[in-house]
Amino acid sequence: METRTSDALIVGAGIAGLVAALKLQPARVTVLCKTRLGKGAATGWAQGGIAAAVGKDDSPKLHAIDTQRAGAGISDATIVDILTRDAPARIEELLELGAAFDRTDEGELALGREAAHQRRRIVKAGGDATGHEILKTLIDAVAAHPSIEIVENVAADDLILDGARVTGVLAHDNDAGAPVAFHAAAVILATGGIGRLYRYTTNPVGATGDGIAMAARAGAVLADMEFVQFHPTALAIGRDPMPLVTEAVRGEGAILVNDLGERFMAAVHPEAELAARDVVARAIFEQQQRGRTVGLDARAAIGARFARAFPTVFRFCADAGLDPRIQNIPVTPAAHYHMGGIAVDEWGRTSLENLWACGETSATGVHGANRLASNSLLEALVYGTRVATDIASREGARRPAARSMSQLEAAPHVPNSTDATQALSDLRNVMYSNVGLVRTDAGLREAVARISELQALPESRGAVLRNLLVVGRLIAEAAIERRESRGSHYRSDYPNTDEAFAKRSFTRLRDVA
Ligand code: SIN
Repeated sequence: METRTSDALIVGAGIAGLVAALKLQPARVTVLCKTRLGKGAATGWAQGGIAAAVGKDDSPKLHAIDTQRAGAGISDATIVDILTRDAPARIEELLELGAAFDRTDEGELALGREAAHQRRRIVKAGGDATGHEILKTLIDAVAAHPSIEIVENVAADDLILDGARVTGVLAHDNDAGAPVAFHAAAVILATGGIGRLYRYTTNPVGATGDGIAMAARAGAVLADMEFVQFHPTALAIGRDPMPLVTEAVRGEGAILVNDLGERFMAAVHPEAELAARDVVARAIFEQQQRGRTVGLDARAAIGARFARAFPTVFRFCADAGLDPRIQNIPVTPAAHYHMGGIAVDEWGRTSLENLWACGETSATGVHGANRLASNSLLEALVYGTRVATDIASREGARRPAARSMSQLEAAPHVPNSTDATQALSDLRNVMYSNVGLVRTDAGLREAVARISELQALPESRGAVLRNLLVVGRLIAEAAIERRESRGSHYRSDYPNTDEAFAKRSFTRLRDVA
């Protein structure tokens, strides 16, 4: 088997992974990318922006209050303080790298407003193309460092362990299926989200929970697995994944109406369309359960400005033959972000020696039961930086890792098949119906049973399904345990928040498998 060695190995080439790679310079860093660089990362799709208290009327303290409020009582206050305090410096660094964020006529950063933020604090680029600009900036910066090697079209399968110590990653080449072992003195998982688990999602197809599944199989502690955020306004035009209609459209005053022309959010919450994401998403879901369809009406609030203010959304609409200047935009809730993941401390250290995690695959505790809009790119930026700082500060961080060949056994390469496609479709359906916006004990147990059946099929050994089934099971099991409703986790059989559950949840794969 081909083996390769570096000082640090990063799995994932979105914002978290690339920032960590840059901050680790001058170390010899290898970054594994499942697709071509810049093509598969959710970062590039992010519309809203990065939340940071950079406005004159704002402060990290106010940002922290909003973050904690969205987290519904279980965010880790220390981590929230770190995130909100570090945010302005990280924005400054992106500007130094050349990120072209939107400016006012006076040359100040043009800050957007999103739900549940007390202030305008969303740093954005190209109106609604923030992620694209950040990814481009980071890719250019990485290209200037010859000691960062990007390995494209290679998917990580499992962690390599030497006893309890992580020494590398076993991967396979996407085209040939050939196994490759990557060894490193420090291993960082930055693999992104889990959206592919759900029938409706705004995430790229590669959001298959690889980091969580690999860490779980290696025995790592996971946290907050039950908390999956559904974005209220994915564009309902039959595409998979679904294009996003950024929350900033509602931030600019667009309203939600059903097909009877009724504006329903004002009766649901005092903040109406700008209530927390889970509240808005559930209200839309309820309308749908009653047989209604829902549209976003931006005609009065944005109208003729739409194409200039939200060029990405405008293009998605135009491609589907819709004109948001004169028509409602059809929307539906879709899985968007996972608050849970690999449990990490304030430096991104996991429970396994020599393994760090950052970005969506990690659970820092900052988001609690629900993430505040535009805190995800920020968390990836702050924690990509902190992970690198921690690794660089370690004695021997640049010592090549010992190779533990005895541990290496390549996962079988199982080609995709009709049966695997059907199994994936079944999984996505049961996750959306039973482990989605509204959950019950019976529905969650039914999902676990279905996942067990799918895990018994030979096709579940294929890399994608194997990971998704592990992660789906962990989410459903954690949701069964939380017998209350909090933030993104809503149980219709336990509709109230219960103080007895006012804490984060932690688990290991062996606790549920
Ligand atoms: C959005 O633009 O609505 C998404 C931003 C986010 O997920 O934070």
